[in-house]
Amino acid sequence: MRGVAIDTPSLLAEEATLAALLRCCVREVAGPRGLVWPAPPYVLLRIAGTLLRARAYGGAALRFEGPPERLEDGSWRPLTADELVLLVEADLQGAGDNGEFAGQVAASRAAVAAILRARAEAVPPADPWLASEQALVYGHPFHPSPKARGGSGWLDYAPEAHAEFPLRLLGVREDVLAEEGDAAVLDSLGAAPAGYRLLPAHPWQLGLLRPAFGPELLDLGPGPSVLPTSSVRTVYAPDAEVCLKFSLDVRITNCVRKNAWYELAGAVELTSRLRPVFDELAIRHPATRWLPEPGYRSAALGTRLREGLGVIVRQSPWSVCSPGVTPVLAAALALDAPARDPLAWWAAYVSVVALPVLELYFAHGVVLEPHLQNVLVGLDASGLPVQAVFRDLEGTKLVADRHDLDGLHPEVAAALAYDAGRGWARVVYCLLVNHLTEIAATLAGADDGLLRELWRTARDLLAKQAGDLGWPLPFSDLLAGAPLPAKANLGVRWARAADRAAGYVPIANPLA
Ligand SMILES: Nc1ncnc2c1ncn2[C@@H]1O[C@H](COP(=O)(O)OP(=O)(O)OP(=O)(O)O)[C@@H](O)[C@H]1O
Ligand SMILES: [Mg+2]
Repeated sequence: MRGVAIDTPSLLAEEATLAALLRCCVREVAGPRGLVWPAPPYVLLRIAGTLLRARAYGGAALRFEGPPERLEDGSWRPLTADELVLLVEADLQGAGDNGEFAGQVAASRAAVAAILRARAEAVPPADPWLASEQALVYGHPFHPSPKARGGSGWLDYAPEAHAEFPLRLLGVREDVLAEEGDAAVLDSLGAAPAGYRLLPAHPWQLGLLRPAFGPELLDLGPGPSVLPTSSVRTVYAPDAEVCLKFSLDVRITNCVRKNAWYELAGAVELTSRLRPVFDELAIRHPATRWLPEPGYRSAALGTRLREGLGVIVRQSPWSVCSPGVTPVLAAALALDAPARDPLAWWAAYVSVVALPVLELYFAHGVVLEPHLQNVLVGLDASGLPVQAVFRDLEGTKLVADRHDLDGLHPEVAAALAYDAGRGWARVVYCLLVNHLTEIAATLAGADDGLLRELWRTARDLLAKQAGDLGWPLPFSDLLAGAPLPAKANLGVRWARAADRAAGYVPIANPLA
């Protein structure tokens, strides 16, 4: 053996980075211009005049097998992520330029390699729910820089590296306490001096924010240990059995993860409005669970600190699942679905996950954001999906003309409301494109026949529900094969726009 050191983490990181960027190119750059051609077992596409190809399977999930290639002087040569970045830059020149893009892609690739190295040395949590939260090594499969994280030191807080770290405890003088709803569980995290209330802080955020300490805000030192969930900024505090959603002034995928003041208030408002809705939903969908966010706490020391230190209390998935049911993050199931009988497993999955989402939209005017990271699936002892847990009220909206939002602060109301069309696009994107497409691709592997059968099964289940609801229009369009809206993550990064400004590109509908 020659002593050639092959750094596997770097190779895997390059492969994943190239694949994610290539998927974005198919979906957002070449696809809408008609420059993608299926040529089984390959998919061919043209970017900036250059022909590219990769072996692909898994329908719209675009799983690649073997190295993507570029045609150069009449022969196929391996394509690298850096080369693809240059092609994207050349192709998108007309849409303005972006000097950050290449750096973000490279940072994401470096982060994946660092995660893989750290993970090889780390011990995964024994709790299967937490292990699933920490399984997303490569992140969003349709994002140009899924794992880019600002600054240094992030590995100490990375869920994928199985980080565990103590909260920092602050004391907020009672007259400058900002709080709504029920955040009493925070008091169990430690002890505050008389006249002060306890405010836990994420240590990474505290380092970024550097608040001035003084009589209104005390530094009380380290608190209990917590474990980060898949979103990085939401952590689980095992002793208090609660999730805490912090602000984190770091860009993760498309957003700097700050809890805006109107989102803090909105979470509490939505929690009280959604309780009766989910109670009613349970009559027809008893397998549906959700994670209430009953309260938040912060310091009323100006908008910067109120938002930067704001923490939302969220119930934990274990506390809402029935005994014997194990919550597992849907995104982890999209990597590895434990199905002995894929068709039966899929039918159970679609029933518990998709049907309540559609019922909420049509019967209650509630728009969930059921992408792979916002849904947990409750598996029974045999591994079959028997419950679904929906979370993340920041992405949950009320259809404006079906809910009376008068009386709320206008900014709180605006952040809570969606018009029906925007809401429907969000539901269809999250549920079908982001979520079910990935689960189906994992179940089917390279078996195209099985993939078609899975979608036939989904169609039958959805058609039955559309019938029960009286075939409302966008639902019947969907079942008739109207194209699906796919969120344009490359486009929004290229434009350096806010996530909420992200557009959609139409893609083929597997229910057709
Ligand atoms: N398939 C996926 N779709 C969407 N997000 C994904 C996916 N895979 C990984 N992610 C990651 O999950 C997070 C989704 O962001 P989202 O806004 O839902 O969460 P959050 O509001 O920060 O936190 P929480 O979900 O705890 O409320 C991002 O960090 C994103 O990179
Ligand atoms: Mg989320």
